[in-house]
Amino acid sequence: MKVLIVYYSQTGNTKKIAEAIYEITSQSHDTQLKNLKEVKVDDLNNYDLVFLGSACHSADLAPPVLKFLEKTPTSPDFKLAGFFTHSVTPPEGSEINKVFYEKWAGKCIKAFEKTKTEKEVDFKGYFRCRGAPSPDIEEFIHKSIITDENEFQEYVEEARKHPDKTDIEDAKKFAQEILKISL
Ligand SMILES: Cc1cc2nc3c(=O)[nH]c(=O)nc-3n(C[C@H](O)[C@H](O)[C@H](O)COP(=O)(O)O)c2cc1C
Repeated sequence: MKVLIVYYSQTGNTKKIAEAIYEITSQSHDTQLKNLKEVKVDDLNNYDLVFLGSACHSADLAPPVLKFLEKTPTSPDFKLAGFFTHSVTPPEGSEINKVFYEKWAGKCIKAFEKTKTEKEVDFKGYFRCRGAPSPDIEEFIHKSIITDENEFQEYVEEARKHPDKTDIEDAKKFAQEILKISL
């Protein structure tokens, strides 16, 4: 299969996930790893499987990725899988986490789902994990979302570690699974 991994990443978190996916797919398939800037939507038709990755911005995929998805052709021959990194605490574990995650990253999955339905794309699934916030995003979170000092320290100490070893391993498992169901 010809595989493309294309990502939008400002501070490198999503790129790390793209590289983990590349490590797996390139072992058995002709794979290209590219920054979104290097790819035109028309190029996608040269591939059998496309992994599209994004940082989460304003609870959604980043605007350049949303534009890219809008331009995606209808009923394309390639299969699509998605991945994204977000700084909000993941939904697992508690109801509060779930509510926060929905509020701050909930549109990412919806954007992929919308493409699947509206563009009749064979969408194979998505991967997501946390990604360390940049200093200005940390400041925004501290000022506007987690104002309590102790809570913020607890949040930021954990958030800064991602993507961690487990996230990278999970991304590799995701890539293996997507390959398996796309053959
Ligand atoms: C402009 C901007 C907006 C962001 N908005 C969100 C957000 O709404 N929810 C969230 O969980 N993370 C948000 N983040 C944090 C990033 O999604 C997170 O740090 C991600 O891992 C960055 O990926 P990158 O290193 O590939 O750019 C935002 C980051 C930036 C720069």
